[in-house]
This record gives sequence, structure tokens and C-alpha cells, in this order.
Amino acid sequence: MQKVIANSGYTSRRKAEELIINNHVEVNGEIINTLGFKVSGSDIISIDGNILNRQVIKEYYLLNKPREVICSVSDDKGRKTVVDLIDTKERIYPIGRLDYDTTGLIILTNDGQLANLLMHPKNKITKTYIAKIEGILNENDFKKMRQGILIENKKLIIDHVKVKEIDKIKNTSLVEVVIHEGRNHIIKKLFASLGYDVKKLTRVKFAFLDLGHLKSGEYRQLSTKEVKALYSLK
Ligand code: URA
Repeated sequence: MQKVIANSGYTSRRKAEELIINNHVEVNGEIINTLGFKVSGSDIISIDGNILNRQVIKEYYLLNKPREVICSVSDDKGRKTVVDLIDTKERIYPIGRLDYDTTGLIILTNDGQLANLLMHPKNKITKTYIAKIEGILNENDFKKMRQGILIENKKLIIDHVKVKEIDKIKNTSLVEVVIHEGRNHIIKKLFASLGYDVKKLTRVKFAFLDLGHLKSGEYRQLSTKEVKALYSLK
């Protein structure tokens, strides 16, 4: 049942589970609070008395997230969210997170199935970041990155790393890093573990999708072909 609720675009799978456990969900008029309860296409699911619309139109957006926007559907501190930037009536949400001060590519959708697929670690979806760091990487840093770096007791595999620019006067570098992990603040933690501060961070690619000509704050819908190609990453 939690999967059906998430796939309808109503909320995430985790939140759907919470709703079920906390007696908010009824099937054909009866409260069901067990996870994994099987529902058929003809069952009527309601949440807090509202019938779940199971025929939602799926929407997919690619946004170039600006700084000072939060990757969430709402914020108790009243900060602007990525959802606020998209003109839609559907309940879309971001797939994964970028920090408040990170810019770049984020996908938003109401398709829970695709969101789960893209966030599941086993699918190893690659993400490409460009980090402006304080300092210049040395051979030893590259050696450590090639071996994989232990971050909070779990090894981070780096698929690719390349220095794109060095500013010797300002003592900063632009470094491109490709990883297939989704841990929070992972790039900042990676550089912190090597002793470098990240001054700016942008995600430039998510799987095969890039920012193209989108300026900060701009977005576009994904094409059917792109959505199919994302599904095929499973
Ligand atoms: N890694 C980070 O440190 N921050 C992000 O926003 C994304 C990846």
C-alpha cells in the first residue's frame, strides 16, 4: 500500500509508511495500519478522509537550482524551496538533495517509482560535481581518491576526478568529481577529509542529463525519451 500511495505522487514512500502506521489511511472505509498491506486497482484508499487520486499525470522537471534555495517541499524556517520555483499544481518533490548553498542540476517529479529507482544505491546513478576548493590537490590526494576514501566508516568510491582549473594567485582550484553516491554533504566531506574547504559547489550532471543552456533558477520538462532512458538505468 505504501508503494501505491508513493506512486500516486501524494508523498514519499517513507512518509506514506508513517501515515499508515499512525492510522491515517483507510482502505474501502477501514483503517489499515500494517505496512505491506496489498491493495488492488479497485480498492479505494483514503488519507485523512480524502480519497487518493491514483490517476495522476506524471511530471518531470530538470531545474538549475540557485543558491539559497532548499531542496525540500516545504521549510519551517520559511526559506524558498525548489518546489516554489516550478509552476505546477502537481505535488512534485526533488529527487535527492543539494545543500542550501549548492547550485545545479536537480530533478523534480511526482513519480515515486522513478524517484525510488534513481535514489536506490544499487542502481549507482552517477552525479558530476564541480567544486571550487581552497588549495591545490597534490599527488597524494589523487592516490587517496583512487583508492577510495573512508567517510564516516564507509568507503566513498570516486568514479572520476579531474582538475579543470588552478588559480595559483588566489590558491583555489576547480575540480570535477564523478560519484554514484547520494550521502548528504558527501563532496564537502570528501574534500574536508583531504584538508580542503569547498568554497562553491555545483552539480553539472545527473546520469546522462546535463544543465544545457539553463540559467540559474530556470527549468525545463524532461522528454518522454529522457524519462524512458532514466527508467532503463535500473
Ligand atoms: N555533496 C555536497 O557536499 N553537497 C551537495 O549539495 C551535494 C553533494
